[in-house]
Amino acid sequence: MRALPERPLTTDPWRVGYEGFKPAEERLREALCTLGNGYFATRGAAPEANAGNAHYPGTYVGGCYDRLPSRIAGRTVVNEDLVNVPNWLPLTFRAQNGDWFAPERFDLLDYRQELDLRRGLLSRWLRYRDAAGRVTEVAQCRLVSMDDPHLAALQTTIRAENWSGRLEIRSGLDTRVGNRGVPRYRGLASEHLTARSTGADRDLIWSDAMTATSAVRIALACRTVVHDTETAHGETRVQPGWIARHLTVAIDRDEVVTVEKVVALHTSRDRADGPAPMVTARRAVARAPDFAELRERHRLAWASLWRRARLDVGGGPAQRTVNLHLFHLLQTVSPHTVDLDVGVPARGLHGEAYRGHVFWDELFVLPFLSLRFPEVVRALLLYRWRRLPAARRAARGVGRTGAMYPWQSGSDGREETQVLHLNPSSGRWLPDNSHLQRHVGLAIAYNIWQYYQATGDLDFLAGEGGEMLLEIARFWASAATFDPPTDRYDIRGVMGPDEYHDAYPGAATPGLDNNAYTNVMAAWTLWRALDLLDLLPLRRRKRLCERVALAEEEPARFDHVSRRLRVIFHQDGVISQFDGYDQLAEFDWEGYQSRYGDIRRLDRVLEAEGDTTNRYKASKQADVLMLFYLLSADELRALFARLDYRFDRETIPKTVSYYLTRTSHGSTLSAVVHAWVLARSDRLASWRFFLEALDSDLHDVQGGTTGEGIHLGAMAGTLDLAQRCYTGLELRGDVLRLAPALPPGLPGLAMELRYRDHASVRLRAGPDGVRISLPPSALPPIRVALGDGPVSILPAGHTLWLRPGRTKE
Ligand code: BGC
Repeated sequence: MRALPERPLTTDPWRVGYEGFKPAEERLREALCTLGNGYFATRGAAPEANAGNAHYPGTYVGGCYDRLPSRIAGRTVVNEDLVNVPNWLPLTFRAQNGDWFAPERFDLLDYRQELDLRRGLLSRWLRYRDAAGRVTEVAQCRLVSMDDPHLAALQTTIRAENWSGRLEIRSGLDTRVGNRGVPRYRGLASEHLTARSTGADRDLIWSDAMTATSAVRIALACRTVVHDTETAHGETRVQPGWIARHLTVAIDRDEVVTVEKVVALHTSRDRADGPAPMVTARRAVARAPDFAELRERHRLAWASLWRRARLDVGGGPAQRTVNLHLFHLLQTVSPHTVDLDVGVPARGLHGEAYRGHVFWDELFVLPFLSLRFPEVVRALLLYRWRRLPAARRAARGVGRTGAMYPWQSGSDGREETQVLHLNPSSGRWLPDNSHLQRHVGLAIAYNIWQYYQATGDLDFLAGEGGEMLLEIARFWASAATFDPPTDRYDIRGVMGPDEYHDAYPGAATPGLDNNAYTNVMAAWTLWRALDLLDLLPLRRRKRLCERVALAEEEPARFDHVSRRLRVIFHQDGVISQFDGYDQLAEFDWEGYQSRYGDIRRLDRVLEAEGDTTNRYKASKQADVLMLFYLLSADELRALFARLDYRFDRETIPKTVSYYLTRTSHGSTLSAVVHAWVLARSDRLASWRFFLEALDSDLHDVQGGTTGEGIHLGAMAGTLDLAQRCYTGLELRGDVLRLAPALPPGLPGLAMELRYRDHASVRLRAGPDGVRISLPPSALPPIRVALGDGPVSILPAGHTLWLRPGRTKE
């Protein structure tokens, strides 16, 4: 019998495969081969690996943070991290008198790894020869259960190809881990686990640990069983912070032994678990089924997720990456999230970059999910709602009213943005002003509105959603200061999404005035807050206004600010990124490109030279262009008209081409936004940006950052490009609007959306228009529009074929 299967087809859109063991690629593979279920995730590290140069095993539980002080550059800074919890993976083996298996130590004859996206499995096949000439073949398969979010399992099949003798298997739990996954953070405190203990009862072993300051208990319990042979000997060995079962079996030439490791992970943050996660974990693992059944239940759970998530982009390599992005999105936030108090971590549960913090990146994630898994979106918005009191305190702290959400959010909603960051190019620790990106609240407002448009969930809008929307609007109304001579409001001292500009050149204090993105989205938010008040039935409106103590005169202030916020234009009508942007120097793109090659992180390059990006017309990522990303031309026209500014047909293309030549794309989000804003004016360029966004993580285009965690915003952003941008899907005024514009590489799009109460709105977009159908049901019709006025679609199983100017059944 052989453990190694046939080589899978590399073009399979459901598989991502890797050939050979390449230490330098290992961290990237680990991030991309992470398995998770929304509750927790484990990097795709080799089971026998310890953290070191090549490997970084890491397991992260959604929302499990810990805060530690560090001494850095002469001061004490406090950072909160998503905690790397004890490692459940350790498993290795050795032939009689041989070394424990690790790929670095042996003559590898074959080594392959494969991620099965459809079934949520990570497999590895390898053959190796030891110093005594013994050849052993191994097949491993692991899962992190999408069925029971507390369970994970690893199956290992070992075949003695040309030898007989004793085989020893070691299966352990390792609590000696820290947060050491990001080289830039090495100077910072990383020991988040205390009170480590281990224990055993016959073939069960367990470990317990507690986070240092947040006091979350984390319990792992593990069962290791050997099949196909009698266990000659089994014992438990313990070292400080480590416990393992050692199982010794006899194996004959060409025989196969199968080892199953099943693990339960519980923490004191779990609900309905009783006070001791250790007790729960031990019980859970004792009653957990065997690997085959776990795999089957897991497969069924994934099958049901895929039915709701599938996004058909017509096959080819793009399809595989789309599937990979869907896969990692659903592993970070899944239906299990609904019961958790977690936000959207910018780097997934896949690594330690940005410390597992929650940024505005949910702006690139939730609109996609609102049309697929609205219940998950609601749960993610509730993470923000629970932190509304903290956002209110933050607003008061800067002399404002309403809610000021933090740029980086973690456990309790306070501002988690680091005060110092390291420039690896210069080795200097520098002040970090990015907390001035107050626009994060606008992203929350946008998502609340999108969620409402997709679901019609008036309860949410009249409740938690409305509270947040009004408080965010109120913050902007209080942040805007009136300038009587110009009859305009200014918003001063902020940063836009472009992180290359945090201050005026030479200024003593950070912050910029009248960032166009911030001002226009603030106007939009204030307008939506007024819409909300109009839309709610009287009683509900009264109750909501009472809850946020909205004074009678406030709506009038909202209205006035939403009409009179200042937007700066350059002389030629291009929207200016902020007041004074046009005074900055042009940047020598060609010169720097030829000197440095990759200048995506221009900020680091210039700082290392003693210069600063603040001096130049050079952006890290889309800033003004975010407006065209979030709002349709129709919506912008109405908004600018309300603001009493000219917005003609040329404003969008002129502004896009101006910034396009002044952006380094130092964030993976940038390619997504550019693909979007070019979708109608330059389809080929849009397609290129789309492909670049698809490559962001798979090919680690930012040069080494993916190994520290995926870029979830960019991943989800590519899905939304296919779902909303290329179909021209816009949810506005209770109408589902469509305006397909497929880029040249995309033959067609097919998807099934949730809209209002309809669980399966089938949509197919191709060069000849859009076909849309609803299965028969007793639900009310939906209104859709393609260019011309809206038409109603009845849930009667018919297909409506929409072509610009023509609609037929
Ligand atoms: C980007 C931000 C983003 C953050 C987290 C930064 O590099 O500039 O826009 O929110 O990464 O993904």
